Amino acid sequence: MALTFRKLNPHFAAEAVGAIALRSVQDRATLDELRAGMDEFAVLVFRDQPFSDAEQLAFAQRFDGTLHAKTGAAVVTRSRLGNEALTDISNLDESGEILESNDRRRMYALGNRLWHTDASFQDPPGRYSMLSARVVPPVAADTEFAGMRAAYDALDEETKVRLEGLRAHHSIAYSRQVLGFDFSQEELENLKGAVHPLVRTNPRTGRRSLYLASHASRIIDWPLPEGRLLLRDLIEHATQPQFVYRHQWRVGDLVIWDNLATMHRGRPFDDTANRRELRRVTTLDMESHAIA
Ligand SMILES: [Fe+2]
Repeated sequence: MALTFRKLNPHFAAEAVGAIALRSVQDRATLDELRAGMDEFAVLVFRDQPFSDAEQLAFAQRFDGTLHAKTGAAVVTRSRLGNEALTDISNLDESGEILESNDRRRMYALGNRLWHTDASFQDPPGRYSMLSARVVPPVAADTEFAGMRAAYDALDEETKVRLEGLRAHHSIAYSRQVLGFDFSQEELENLKGAVHPLVRTNPRTGRRSLYLASHASRIIDWPLPEGRLLLRDLIEHATQPQFVYRHQWRVGDLVIWDNLATMHRGRPFDDTANRRELRRVTTLDMESHAIA
């Protein structure tokens, strides 16, 4: 089946045109076309994809192999969905009720409103995230994506040289603590984080991208404040409006993004009054792990 895409931003992100039922896609040729689409656009939007949880997990595995199951949230609370590879992107408790404003799970989830990449605090890190919209509120509750390849390309030569070979430590404990979230000693023990290069190269296309996130806590071998200032400057640069695509969710959307070439954040909405329920499955980047 030939896939066609319509661009959503001059630099990245595209929507699939024409009918395709991703949950039934089995053949390698179509999955390879999908990967080529990911390599070109880094964010792909598919409308009208009615996934069940099992179908979403199976599709992610067929498409990209190993699933990410050691989420930061697993340290704080057990998933109400019963499978740690299926991340609950919702504002609901285990009985389906909207979380109270001071509920610890809600406060933890608010960290998703900072610019981040999924599972950068792991090694191997997250590669593709697939987010399926099940319940969408009547108010805007969008997700923004930043294109990190165009952001890298737009840096001046001097900065590119300066970034060469730098590595950053990523920790979800750090990004949550920035917002004032407290962890117990035991939780911190399980959230030690991981070190990754600040600039990544896609092995198939050779394209380079900035690899940043709110999880990035420091630059290895740099004085702490200097590293944090660099990270702030780069995030500010990469999230200028020309590099950002804002997705307005519809029920049935499946959005796939490449965490190694994008950042994203959830935008605020009245989440103590409006139900919002999405499911995420993220794969791990086994390739670059093997190379590094
Ligand atoms: Fe995320």
